[in-house]
Amino acid sequence: MTALETTLSKNKLIPVVAIDRIEDISPLCEALLEGGISTIEITLRTDSALASIAEAARNFPEMAVGAGTILTADHVKAVSDSGAAYGVSPGLTEKLQNAIEQSGLAFLPGASTASEIMKNLEYGYTIQKFFPAEAAGGVNFLKSLSAPFSGVRFCPTGGINEKNIVSYLNVPNVICVGGSWFVTSDKVKSGNLKKLAEEVRGILEHIGGDF
Ligand code: 3PG
Repeated sequence: MTALETTLSKNKLIPVVAIDRIEDISPLCEALLEGGISTIEITLRTDSALASIAEAARNFPEMAVGAGTILTADHVKAVSDSGAAYGVSPGLTEKLQNAIEQSGLAFLPGASTASEIMKNLEYGYTIQKFFPAEAAGGVNFLKSLSAPFSGVRFCPTGGINEKNIVSYLNVPNVICVGGSWFVTSDKVKSGNLKKLAEEVRGILEHIGGDF
């Protein structure tokens, strides 16, 4: 099993976060760890993203720090230099794949059609992000993929929330899900991390452990 597969197998829920203020990243990681989650996907959608990835990777070796919204070869280099444990993209291109191969970064490419899944498989990716999950067909789409793509497992993200998370995790070809609903910017900035840790614990209890 690769390190990325281990991370995704043991964390059924990946928090997808946009960090506006670098000072929020360490308290956030502490709260997630306290709540029972040992990975985070920090999206490259804010100016603080790369510095936050570097700080999280440096301060929390027990946490697998992922970098999300990777769209270009430059992003791949930047997140590798920042110490990210893995990268996540909504899709995959040939240029991106070349950069991934050069960097050696563990990678979770996205797909939302059969052809995109096949392209990712040609590069050897048997674990893929399914994005945008709800808009692209949700649980029924994922179930339909299991016959032609029996060797592929998915991390659906996009529209996952506390109401539908269990129905996604119950689909056998789902390894984990990603979501931003419980780590909004406002919540992160509020500094009420005890509450966030409790919420995370509550979500994990709601999910249960039988997957
Ligand atoms: C993303 O990359 O934005 C994720 O898919 C998160 O989606 P969500 O905000 O709908 O949870």
